[in-house]
Amino acid sequence: MSALRGRAAVAAGGAPYARRVRVLVVGSGAREHALAVALAADDDVSDVLVGPGGPGVADVAEVVPLDPLDGAAVAALARERGVDLVVVGPEAPLVGGVADAVRAAGVDCFGPSAVAARLEGSKAFAKDVMASADVPTAMARVCTDVDQVAAALDAFGAPHVVKDDGLAGGKGVVVTSDREEALAHARSCLEGRPGAGASAVVVEEFLDGPEVSLFVLCDGRDVVPLAPAQDSKRLRDGDEGPNTGGMGAYSPLPWAPEGLVDEVVERVAQPVVDEMARRGTPFAGVLYCGLALTSRGVRVVEFNARFGDPETQVVLPRLRTPLGGLLRAAATGRLAEAAPLGWSSDAAVVVVLAAGGYPAAPRAGDPLSGLEAAAAVPGARVLHAGTAAGADGALVASGGRVLSLVGTGATLADARAAAYAAVAEVGLQGGQHRTDIAAASAALAEEVGA
Ligand code: AMP
Ligand code: GLY
Repeated sequence: MSALRGRAAVAAGGAPYARRVRVLVVGSGAREHALAVALAADDDVSDVLVGPGGPGVADVAEVVPLDPLDGAAVAALARERGVDLVVVGPEAPLVGGVADAVRAAGVDCFGPSAVAARLEGSKAFAKDVMASADVPTAMARVCTDVDQVAAALDAFGAPHVVKDDGLAGGKGVVVTSDREEALAHARSCLEGRPGAGASAVVVEEFLDGPEVSLFVLCDGRDVVPLAPAQDSKRLRDGDEGPNTGGMGAYSPLPWAPEGLVDEVVERVAQPVVDEMARRGTPFAGVLYCGLALTSRGVRVVEFNARFGDPETQVVLPRLRTPLGGLLRAAATGRLAEAAPLGWSSDAAVVVVLAAGGYPAAPRAGDPLSGLEAAAAVPGARVLHAGTAAGADGALVASGGRVLSLVGTGATLADARAAAYAAVAEVGLQGGQHRTDIAAASAALAEEVGA
């Protein structure tokens, strides 16, 4: 009876804690802005700090100066400011051990340890864990010289997939039918990064079929999936152009097979969490499962050890369960108490506005206009990524991905209309965005009446 009541209290957003919690979000992208919005909407959260954040996130949080890679500084700030929960957004601090430093200072932290974050930090490590846990993924060879790469390319055949072993901000992967281009990428990865230690590339079999991003919350033992989303990684409409960090996303997926989420939990997420626990390096945080739905079944394309950007911007607006309690449950080994989660039937679409020159050489310093009009579009929300205050105090672009324009609505078509109406209000010289985010799925949803 009391256990049941406890579960109901968490699911209904009741207070499982003695007092309201203060949360520090580490990072400065639109993903962190989306996290701050959702945390600020949780009645059990008293206030949200974001460091280093940016001027845009001040609408929902206190912006604090912070070096996100400096674990001692993050831990010290959390202690000084009486923070109850630190949520680490990006991968580099996790791989660098920021979550370990925060926990060592006695503060709860949502985000895996440095050793567990190797699931993202090393593609070769992720492949090894998947092999041990019998998780379906692309066949792959880890190569440390160009001759090995050439042999692997010939063994798997075209199209070729060549990946930098280490962190590369989503840009370390080349998929091409041109053998010379595949070899050239491998060469640049192998020679590339001075001081980065022994380098390796992973050559993989090509996976066909649509991609799905599924975030699975983990507390080291139990796992709870969020709603699936789809990200558009290529720069231009029709999935043309170079790979980027992500140019848009939407949720739900009207075409996703029934049972997909359960299948991924059973065949992917739970086995990986079990294997990490067996190795003595439990994974707690969010396991981002990047999946391909191939003609031969679900395959893992990659793991990330953090929330995806921009998928988070469309998953969190649909989540009804208060986020602060949920992340704290994951951080403290009590995730089972937080399930099942509540979801809105609404749809969400995010369109990313990127600076001119992104991804190769983004232009900084161009003025932004129309943000108030964009925010006033019904169903739209403006989330900031690469924005800064210019000399006269007006906002200017300061990064590759500048804004996330999020639309929500009863259907994907409504959500899409809201997101694109917001995009139309924003002025940014040389700005780039895709015009086809969620287009095919919105049409499909209308057809099937989803
Ligand atoms: P990753 O950084 O591993 O997620 O790769 C970035 C993108 O490259 C993925 O989202 C896919 O679109 C593509 N990709 C990666 N691995 C493969 C593969 N084995 N087959 C086909 N496409 C891939
Ligand atoms: N949207 C892709 C990523 O976050 O890695």
